[in-house]
Amino acid sequence: MRTSIEAARERVRRAKRVAVLTGAGVSAESGIPTFRSNGGYWRQRRFEDLATPQGFARDPKFVWTWYEERRRGIARAEPNAGHRALVELEARAERFTLITQNVDGLHERAGSRNVIRLHGSIWSLRCLGCRREIEEHAELNELPPLCECGGMLRPGVVWFGESLPAGAMERAASAVSEAELLIVVGTSAQVYPAAGLIPMALGAGAAVLEVNPAETEFSDDVTFALRGGAAEILPALL
Ligand code: APR
Repeated sequence: MRTSIEAARERVRRAKRVAVLTGAGVSAESGIPTFRSNGGYWRQRRFEDLATPQGFARDPKFVWTWYEERRRGIARAEPNAGHRALVELEARAERFTLITQNVDGLHERAGSRNVIRLHGSIWSLRCLGCRREIEEHAELNELPPLCECGGMLRPGVVWFGESLPAGAMERAASAVSEAELLIVVGTSAQVYPAAGLIPMALGAGAAVLEVNPAETEFSDDVTFALRGGAAEILPALL
């Protein structure tokens, strides 16, 4: 495991086929709280209880209050220098895939193009009645929001215990298996199947570069472990 930014920068410069895996940490410097660094609670409730079909069924209004609070916070946030550095990297690489666990849409707002959203989008709503999926950025005054059909709308995100969007993990796995470099930014690497992309890259012989102020369980296995914030380190890698 190497920690020098110069060696990492050289490896990034040479890389033609790049895959990136991001988590909540890449949006931290946009002012969006991560899940686990503040202990993973919201109003004394673990988000594992909130972000589940059972949690939603138990108290849809409470869960929607959490999601709408996050939607308002994200609507006020701007992409940061880390998001923008990934856009620049996409322009430079011959093949580039950005795989994100985030639902905030900041990568797309920054200009990233080839994005695989493993956990859906906080801007999409899905009807439990007619299954319709709609995109809604405006403030939701009525919680839980209702569909035109009268059915209850849920956040269009992947909750614990739910399957990922069809094909998302397959596309992510093929991008990682073809990449010569996987850059892992701002994830505690505790949630699967997303975290499984890291050992997959290592097993395929790719160089793995981790950007995180804290250690993760893969920090000792990666090729480069860069300790620091994404908004500072990612631009320094270009
Ligand atoms: N730059 C880079 N990384 C950062 C920064 C920063 N400025 N600030 C914090 N981090 C790191 C933390 O050290 C932590 O390792 O970001 C990581 C955030 O981890 P989590 O809060 O667990 O978020 P994430 O890994 O994205 O969670 C994965 O879990 O709750 C579910 O579905 C949800 O997609 C989410 C998944």
